[in-house]
Amino acid sequence: MSTASRILDPQPASAAPPRAAPQAAHTPDYLADALRPGATNAQIALAADELLALVRQGLSGDQAAYAQYQSILLDLHLPGEPHSEPTRRWLASQIYSVEDQFAPALPEFRPVPVEEFRTVIDAEIASRTRVRHPMSQHLFQGEPSQQEVRSFLQHHWNRSYNFYSLLAELAFRFPDIRDASVFYRNLYGEAGAETPERSHPALLSHLMTHFEIPLEIDFAALHPLEKAYLNNRIRCVRHTDVAWGLSLLYAVESVSCVNHLRIYELLQRMGVPEEPSEFHRLHGTQDEIDTEEMWELIAKYAHEDSFQRTFMQSLARHFDINRAYFDLLWRQMQSPSVH
Ligand SMILES: [Fe+2]
Repeated sequence: MSTASRILDPQPASAAPPRAAPQAAHTPDYLADALRPGATNAQIALAADELLALVRQGLSGDQAAYAQYQSILLDLHLPGEPHSEPTRRWLASQIYSVEDQFAPALPEFRPVPVEEFRTVIDAEIASRTRVRHPMSQHLFQGEPSQQEVRSFLQHHWNRSYNFYSLLAELAFRFPDIRDASVFYRNLYGEAGAETPERSHPALLSHLMTHFEIPLEIDFAALHPLEKAYLNNRIRCVRHTDVAWGLSLLYAVESVSCVNHLRIYELLQRMGVPEEPSEFHRLHGTQDEIDTEEMWELIAKYAHEDSFQRTFMQSLARHFDINRAYFDLLWRQMQSPSVH
């Protein structure tokens, strides 16, 4: 049973726990050994060495190595057998360190006074908008087919169903409750406030049902570029340097309203009924309070040059990965099988 269906499963908590995922076909022996119950430190250290060499190879331009490392990292990120959780978290954190070494260089970067930093990041976000992407133009200004919209929404589910868990992970990074509460307030809304059936994943699931999109996600079957997009979101909020996660969530939240509004208007044009459209109506019309609160938190850290630099590196990587991912979806949409 996938994470997504577990979240939305109406069965009581006493229902049988989900079975552990079968060993993925791409899992190398060294990793399988390191994740077994009773694995030795030597086996775990060997797995880390092998894995980090693979990550370096992938980030140096070897596409096959990149695809394999993204598959493995997604397996490490997704819920698995409880006994292997500490090892999976640790191995993932080692991968993040290598990814840090390959972070965008940003030769043009210059730190600015805190009061100017928001203008800089908002300008960067605006310059990387999805609005001008050919897939967006086709979907929101053209005449997309039902099948094309269904394909787009299926990927929307893949990346959105567990947004709340990104908020929860980042909240843990802030020891001061006044800082952490920025995310807890957001999380309260994500969970449907006092009405669990109005949690945002539940609302979005109605749209999936309307388009006959299965809630189960076959993660292993996703394209490496989609895995990279999902991995980067999780990596940023789990990173010990909060600049990565603050940047990622600020970038996502600050374009959320406009992106969802365009999808809502598309659904309206397609005659999608009120209930399945509710998720996008809500997200397309809510005010920007989440972004404002997050900016106030960012401003507390932005006097440090190193924070500003890492924040901008995180933005650059997110948008680079996002661009590659949207280019992929657009290629897939144009392939004959989608029509
Ligand atoms: Fe939401």
